[in-house]
Amino acid sequence: MDESKQGQALVLENKIGNTKKLFIESYGCQMNMSDSEIVASILGEQGFNTTQNLEDADLVLVNTCSIREKAEQTVRKRLEKYNAVKKINPKMKVGVLGCMAERLKEKFLEEEKIVDLVVGPDAYRDLPNLLEEIDAGRDAVNVILSKDETYGDVSPVRLNTNGVSAFVSITRGCDNMCTFCVVPFTRGRERSRDPRSILEEIQKLSDDNYKEITLLGQNVDSYLWYGGGLKKDFKKATEMEQATAVDFAQLLDQCATRFPKMRLRFSTSNPQDMSLDVIHVMAKHKNICKYLHLPVQSGSNTMLKAMNRQHTREEYMQLIDNILKIVPEMSFSQDMIIGFCGETEEDHQDTLSLMEHVKYDFGFMFAYSERPGTLAAKKLPDDVPFAVKKRRLQEVINLQLKHSLYRTQQHVGKIEEFLIEGSSKKSDLHWKARNTQNTVVVFPKENYKVGDFVNVKVEDCTSATLIGTAVGYSENN
Ligand code: SAH
Ligand code: F3S
Repeated sequence: MDESKQGQALVLENKIGNTKKLFIESYGCQMNMSDSEIVASILGEQGFNTTQNLEDADLVLVNTCSIREKAEQTVRKRLEKYNAVKKINPKMKVGVLGCMAERLKEKFLEEEKIVDLVVGPDAYRDLPNLLEEIDAGRDAVNVILSKDETYGDVSPVRLNTNGVSAFVSITRGCDNMCTFCVVPFTRGRERSRDPRSILEEIQKLSDDNYKEITLLGQNVDSYLWYGGGLKKDFKKATEMEQATAVDFAQLLDQCATRFPKMRLRFSTSNPQDMSLDVIHVMAKHKNICKYLHLPVQSGSNTMLKAMNRQHTREEYMQLIDNILKIVPEMSFSQDMIIGFCGETEEDHQDTLSLMEHVKYDFGFMFAYSERPGTLAAKKLPDDVPFAVKKRRLQEVINLQLKHSLYRTQQHVGKIEEFLIEGSSKKSDLHWKARNTQNTVVVFPKENYKVGDFVNVKVEDCTSATLIGTAVGYSENN
């Protein structure tokens, strides 16, 4: 999942009659952004409207990320800022949500005096009770993980929206137990959301004129609805439940068939759980974007094994080749972990050569950061020196930049369909839009508007962005 390094203060449409003020911000993955929309909805029923002014807030909530140590440090810094504000506004209450809340539990209250409330990712429905606890002067903690919570019936309040793209979560948790990863501990076991509630949510978004949906999960290809419950308990389901179960390929097919004008994306795909059925569904529907985020983490078989990834480098490359046979225009992005336990120069070269094979369009690359409680932290020494991690990371980033440029260059000279998302960051006179492969173009605004599907002639590019001119509305408009 893409990660935004900046926290975002979120705003929702205010509900008439609500008097209390909530300031909520999210760090980390898209799932956290999506969860904050659920929290805002739950608190909207409790008399809270959001504010963008930290100084005004009755309640401050920070949705946190534990994936790397740096993400946690960023949140700690934010708490210092809240502390300063609390000196001016002593009535303000502070709550920590998300993965750090789950990881640190009651310890948070001891370590950070500013924190009144600690709520894990499966406990947001308990927020009204927890707020009563803190009103009564008691500390409030709920970090219980659930086997069936999906918030399927909570209608999220769209926060910080451009009115064009929205996230819809379809699974929660992860069962994969990659040895480096804290997510299975902070988000619990995998469970899927009822397809009916997913389709209803997309219907609402379609009625509100949204144009693009991203289906979200830690591991979307593992989606399996058989009436509720943990994925790992599927074998215990009745014959009838098993026979009528819906997998990810079927869900995607249903969404694309029912909403032919809606662009669909999904994230994240895990190589070991990806089935070619999904790729056939992608090939069948024009409205499913031809882009896969397919993290590999390393190109070395030794590292993949130490990470408990359930595939080899050869199987991964074979998967990419098979996908391209079905959808030749598919674009790919990676996540890489550099300098994992025991990584040698040879392992590193294997990562570079795998990248040469795939030539990813985009990449998200990080130095390994040991996370307490994971199998790697318990069993494998974090033994690659920081300077070596840094140098290898830079080599990987440089190669990715070269491949990204190679990929953007393939679009130059072509006319492609793009969906306008908003103004270009660099120029108010240009739109920013995305094609099916998730590549961004900027072009002069003329009379087009946000949410239009436009055909753009691509004239130039950098490694990150295409530059072009609109030639007219596309037929999807
Ligand atoms: N399946 C999830 C993965 C979440 S973590 C998803 O939805 O994307 C996102 C990425 O963070 C991982 O793919 C991995 O590349 C990186 N990551 C996870 N744990 C890490 C660690 N301990 N150190 C460095 N990077 C890590
Ligand atoms: Fe983490 Fe591996 Fe799951 S990276 S989220 S344990 S697929």
